[in-house]
Amino acid sequence: MTQNTPHRPLAVVVLAAGQGTRMKSSLPKVLHRIGGRPLVGHVLDTALALSPDRIVVVVRHERDLVAGAILETVPDVVVVDQDDVPGTGRAVEQALDALDDDFAGDVLVLSGDVPLLDADTLAALVRAHRGGAVAATVLSATVDDATGYGRVIRDADGTVSRIVEQKDATAEEASVTEINAGVYVFEARALRTHLALVGTANAQGEKYLTDVVRLLRDSRLAVAAASAPDAGAALGVNDRVQLAEAARLLNARTVRRWQLEGVTVLDPATTWIDVTATLAPDVTVLPNTHLLRATVVGEGATVGPDTSLVDCEVGENAVVTRTDATLAVIGAGASVGPFAYLRPGTYLGAKGKIGTFVETKNSTIGDRSKVPHLSYIGDTTIGTGVNLGAGAITANYDDIAKHRTEIGDEVHTGSHNVFVAPVRIGDGAKTGAGAVIRKDVPAGALALSVAPQRNVEGWVEKNRPGTGAADVAAKARSAQKADDGAQEEDR
Ligand code: UD1
Ligand code: CA
Repeated sequence: MTQNTPHRPLAVVVLAAGQGTRMKSSLPKVLHRIGGRPLVGHVLDTALALSPDRIVVVVRHERDLVAGAILETVPDVVVVDQDDVPGTGRAVEQALDALDDDFAGDVLVLSGDVPLLDADTLAALVRAHRGGAVAATVLSATVDDATGYGRVIRDADGTVSRIVEQKDATAEEASVTEINAGVYVFEARALRTHLALVGTANAQGEKYLTDVVRLLRDSRLAVAAASAPDAGAALGVNDRVQLAEAARLLNARTVRRWQLEGVTVLDPATTWIDVTATLAPDVTVLPNTHLLRATVVGEGATVGPDTSLVDCEVGENAVVTRTDATLAVIGAGASVGPFAYLRPGTYLGAKGKIGTFVETKNSTIGDRSKVPHLSYIGDTTIGTGVNLGAGAITANYDDIAKHRTEIGDEVHTGSHNVFVAPVRIGDGAKTGAGAVIRKDVPAGALALSVAPQRNVEGWVEKNRPGTGAADVAAKARSAQKADDGAQEEDR
């Protein structure tokens, strides 16, 4: 039986005002991406999953850029600007000003640069906090290398006494391997009153949020530390080495999730799947494959090796091999590659084929239609059951404007054709090898544009005497003559 307890409000504060100096980047740190999303986007996603009453994000460095990215992900968050006083404590202090004065719930503080914590871990942290008579609960983790993190210092009896930043730590404090994950739950009123007491007398001259822990203890209020079940998920991203590590851990988690949903991933280490991509059961992903942004892969399809799909849709049972594709739709049972380049606006129908060394752009290739070899197809509509010969080129650009090529159903073209757009090929038409199609071809017609072949007998012997070619040609011609003579006698 569930009891009707009164709703205790929860506000989430996300810290995203820092510059991220150690990234050495013109892009603000929290906008660096892993798994196809900015770091702060992952944090917001997790915050949303907790369904809090309020989400407040604190910004300062490149505030328009950061606020823009945040509001794009979650339109109804409150964005607060941090003033010139630096430090995580000041950031939270100003976030609290955006809450009602009488806000009497809990505040969950998240760092915009700690992207891997999942909603279950945070919900457990909030529950643990609410279950104990404490003013604050710190999420901690025990790590092999604590470099750069604040250390959780406990009293002899194990109670949390304070958090010391690496730069302010004595050698003994620095040897502690229990670190502050930068994620906390605070009782809102205690947080507000104690933040007001935090100064900036420390190695970095910043108003540290972590100092609140010591001040709460000074006020005889208890602080707990809850250990993260997965220490790796507490990873904070301060430099590009940690960025790559976070990307790798997130990707391993994403790959594993799809494997458990029935996807075969041959080599998880070289397979990169954005958190926004979707895969159906019985998809096979071969090594060195990147499935990015809103890519969707249908049941039974095989993708890779050496393939990168950005915002693509791959139909059921399609096979995509050694291909680079962006904003392309590949039909069910279709085959693409090896070595194909599909640019935006490519639509390949069911059981169609885009083959080897083929580039396509802004083109529709109908069901069962094939562009098998060495082709450029741009601004083109191709009907169903078409086969384009090797080396088909649509000349879609005349230096001024782009023009369309329209090819009907069941058209078969010869090798090495150029279609000079705008041009239309009617249903069932054919073209000869080497044709340059400048005029529309009516349905069912055969279009030839190459001049009839003329052989100039003996040209090589006459014009290139003494060359190897002339020697063998002379021999071949006399043998042919002898042969013709013998046949004449036989008659
Ligand atoms: C912080 C903690 C440290 C903890 C670590 C966990 C403090 C003083 N230290 O250190 O104990 O182990 O996180 O990853 O809190 N930010 C602001 N405004 C500021 C400064 C920072 O919003 O004025 C934001 C940053 O954008 C970032 C987060 O707060 O998202 C943490 O800041 P950062 O400078 O990376 O703190 P750390 O040195 O990692
Ligand atoms: Ca950090």
